[in-house]
Amino acid sequence: MSRNFIEDDVAREVRLRTDIVALISEYVKLRKTGKNYVGLCPFHEEKTGSFTVDPDKQLFYCFGCGTGGNAFTFLMKREGLTFPEALEKLAQRAGVRLEPRRRSAAQEARKKEYGRLLDALEFAQARFREMLYASRGRDALSYLEKRGLSRETIDKFGLGYAPNEWDFIATGARRSGFNQADFAKAGLLLERSGGGYYDRFRNRVTFPIWDGGGTLIGFGGRALGDENPKYLNSPETPVFRKGRELYALNLAKPGIRRADKVCVMEGYMDVITSYQHGIDYTVAGMGTALSREQARALLLLTEHVYLVYDQDEAGKRATRRSIEVFRDAGGRTQIVSLPGAKDPDVFLRTEGPAAFEGLLTEALPDMEFIYDEARRENAHLGMEGKIRVRDAMVPVLASLSSDFELSAYIEEFSRDLAVPRESLAKDVEAYRRKAEQARKYKQSQNRDTTGYDNQRQPIPGRGSKEVETPAGIKPSDIEISVVRRKAEEGVIRCLIENRGLLARTMEILGDEDFADPICRELFRVLQEGSLDTVADERIQTHVAELCLRFGEVPKDSIERILNDCVRRLRRERLEELRETIALAERTKDQATLVKASLDYQRLLKQLKSTGDASDGSAL
Ligand code: UTP
Ligand code: MN
Repeated sequence: MSRNFIEDDVAREVRLRTDIVALISEYVKLRKTGKNYVGLCPFHEEKTGSFTVDPDKQLFYCFGCGTGGNAFTFLMKREGLTFPEALEKLAQRAGVRLEPRRRSAAQEARKKEYGRLLDALEFAQARFREMLYASRGRDALSYLEKRGLSRETIDKFGLGYAPNEWDFIATGARRSGFNQADFAKAGLLLERSGGGYYDRFRNRVTFPIWDGGGTLIGFGGRALGDENPKYLNSPETPVFRKGRELYALNLAKPGIRRADKVCVMEGYMDVITSYQHGIDYTVAGMGTALSREQARALLLLTEHVYLVYDQDEAGKRATRRSIEVFRDAGGRTQIVSLPGAKDPDVFLRTEGPAAFEGLLTEALPDMEFIYDEARRENAHLGMEGKIRVRDAMVPVLASLSSDFELSAYIEEFSRDLAVPRESLAKDVEAYRRKAEQARKYKQSQNRDTTGYDNQRQPIPGRGSKEVETPAGIKPSDIEISVVRRKAEEGVIRCLIENRGLLARTMEILGDEDFADPICRELFRVLQEGSLDTVADERIQTHVAELCLRFGEVPKDSIERILNDCVRRLRRERLEELRETIALAERTKDQATLVKASLDYQRLLKQLKSTGDASDGSAL
């Protein structure tokens, strides 16, 4: 018990020292509206900001998906951490010292392994860096200099050199007392068929890859000449997930926020050259197709996304794919073309940053890019070409969620194709209908086999369909009138605001007065006095939801509001009892009739004695 008290104190201290707005701003671009901040929700896909952060209460809540909580729950959800892990992370951030905590053996092992892999990567990074400036790295360094990189840039990006040896890292690790198996797991060593290990990166310039928080998680390695492959990257490892990370995101975050835009490029070198020229809001993928998760991470920081891919066929294909990924993730992109250069690296080195920024202002909105490409590709086909352009555009148009955007593009494209706008609009409509039918069909197939639909249902009046039913609560249990729920929530809201009113409220209300299971649970937690420190994410979410949905409760009217809610609650309860009585009379359910009548009388008497007789008798 005493342990818990200490933990509670520490948690409180950490919470006090954490600015939730600053914390969340590292993930989401927030803008101030009134007293609160809003942005795009990192927990569901949306185009308008329903995600609200309340700096006074240090809470966040999304009106779109119902996710909410405090700084701890934010990290737990966003980073998939447990409460103790989130506490540790925030404590470190806030400079609060934590007593070493106890973990389960499995957690301990996982954490230890994670740490060993990170150590292995840091070890390799130090050696690669050393080698770049050693005599063995002469060619590598002059290669980078030939590519126009300054020492400053080389150091900023931590570029290094893996010498042309089979066991540079393998032997170095062993000599320094490391376990080679960890190095293999970190992607630095490969296992020989006859046993033992050898280096993955040999005779390559090394590009450290950091995650968004600046932790080294892998490497890219470029050949010095024309060897294949040109780039060799770390494999997926427990610490390196290619679909999640973006190259240079840790360096770009401040620039993206400041410029309120981001350039997505294909190559590491493109990004590095950009920085050298002061374009500090660029990132790249990991040599793999951009994932929705990566797109989402960027869209949370800014809605102005520029795709600046290579100008060859592969680059065009990647552009088209990324356009779709960003649309799918709820955002839009603009496409930059680079006249006379094959990629941003070359363009920047020949034309400079001012010309580059000029190109951004001429970037094509994604839809126009796709249209122009389709036009160009089919220009020589005459009438047939026109039809092909339509075929290419209809699915894209059909995927637009904004009606305004759709009609604007239909207007523009049909004018350009010289067809009546109605005909294009009809094709889009028909396509949508077909897609919808296909979707429904697929859904019905799923339902038949899984019975999914019976398992999860929205709670009436509580958020959108995506919101999951809180654990342990059956949707069928929850058939409460809106008025009643409002009253119950009002009581809780007032008690959260002013705990001083709790004792008095406990005298008039008991757990059983709350029909809404969530309110009942919160009421119980309030009575236990642990609302601020309880780690249960579900509870924190409910607290945040309540607080933000209700908004401010003016200090001097809390009591009045509380009384109002209590009264309404009782009135609702009376109404319920009357219905129960009526039903029991009809069904001749004697036991229920007696009990309900007694409850009814008692409640009525109570109301009269507390001066609420008018409400009671008004019934
Ligand atoms: P590019 O070949 O366009 O990269 O590949 P780049 O930066 O322009 O290369 P330089 O300028 O010739 O050095 C784009 C990205 O695709 C991945 C890498 O992430 C690279 O940055 N890639 C490319 C590989 O993973 N392997 C390869 O063999 C080539
Ligand atoms: Mn390139």
